[in-house]
Amino acid sequence: MRQLRGWAIASVALLWAAAPARAETVEEIAGKHVFERCKACHSVELGKMGFGPSLHGIIGRPAASLPMFLYSDALKASGLIWTEDNLRSWMAGNDKLVPGTRMRHVGITDKAEQDYLIAYLKTQSAAMGPEQARVLLDRAVAKLKADGPDKAFATFNDPKGGFIARDLYVFVFDMTGKYMASGANPKLTGSDAKDLHDAEGKDIVREMINIANSTGSGEVDYMWLNRVDNRVEKKRSMIQRVGDYIVGVGYYFN
Ligand code: HEC
Repeated sequence: MRQLRGWAIASVALLWAAAPARAETVEEIAGKHVFERCKACHSVELGKMGFGPSLHGIIGRPAASLPMFLYSDALKASGLIWTEDNLRSWMAGNDKLVPGTRMRHVGITDKAEQDYLIAYLKTQSAAMGPEQARVLLDRAVAKLKADGPDKAFATFNDPKGGFIARDLYVFVFDMTGKYMASGANPKLTGSDAKDLHDAEGKDIVREMINIANSTGSGEVDYMWLNRVDNRVEKKRSMIQRVGDYIVGVGYYFN
C-alpha cells in the first residue's frame, strides 16, 4: 500500500513535470468569470453534458456535433461552425442567430466580455474527432445534392463557406481522381490526383476510387500534413460517393 502510494505520488510529480503550467492571461481569467453565466448548463470538460452540451473544444467545432447530446432540430439544421464571429452573435442573441434553439436567451453584447469568454474557451480546446468529421461530411453531401456540383464545390473551397472546422475540411474527387474541391488548398481544384500517395507511399486516391466503386462509402487511413499544427500525422478520411463524385472529410489522430 505504502509502495503504491509512493508510486502514485511519483507519477503525479511526473505528470506535473511533463506539463508545465502556463500562466493564465488576464483575459482568460476574466473570461472564466463571464463563464459563470453559462455554468449552470455547460461544462468545459470533455464529454460532460449538463442541461447544455459540453463546451470543451467549442471554438471551430461544427454546431450540434456531439453525439451524446440531444440538440434541437433548429441547431442541427443551422449548418454553423463555431467560429469566433458566430460565437459572438450567439452570445449576443442566440435565439436570433438560430430561431428555435433550445438555449434560453443570453445577451452578452459587450465586446470586451465576448473577447474574454472567447479567450477562456480557447484554453479548453480539443482535437476534432470522428463525430465532427461525420457531421461535416453529412453536411457536405447534403449541400452537393441540394445545390449541385458547381455551387457546392465553390462553397467547400471558400474559407468562409462554413465547411472548414479547425483542421477538418472537405475534399472532392471525380471518379478519375481529379480534384474538384479542397478546402485546405483550393488551388488543387482541377489537378489530377489519382497517383497521389502519402508520406509512406500508400496510394490514397486509388483506394478511395476503389471504395467508391465497390461499397460507395468507407474509410481510408494515411499519413498527412495537419495544416493547423504543421505536422505530418495519422489521418482517417471518411468518404462517400455522390453520383460521379467522391466526397471526403478526414480527422487526425495519434
Ligand atoms: C439555461 C441553460 C443554458 C445557459 C445559461 C447557457 N446555455 Fe448554451 N446551450 C444550452 C442548451 C440547452 C443548448 C443546446 C441548444 C439547442 O440544441 O438548440 C446550448 C447550446 C450552446 C452552444 C452550441 C453548442 C454546440 O455543440 O453546438 C453554445 C456555443 C453555447 N450554448 C454557449 C453558451 C454560452 C457561451 C453561455 C453563457 C454565456 C451559455 N451557452 C449559456 C443551455 C444553456
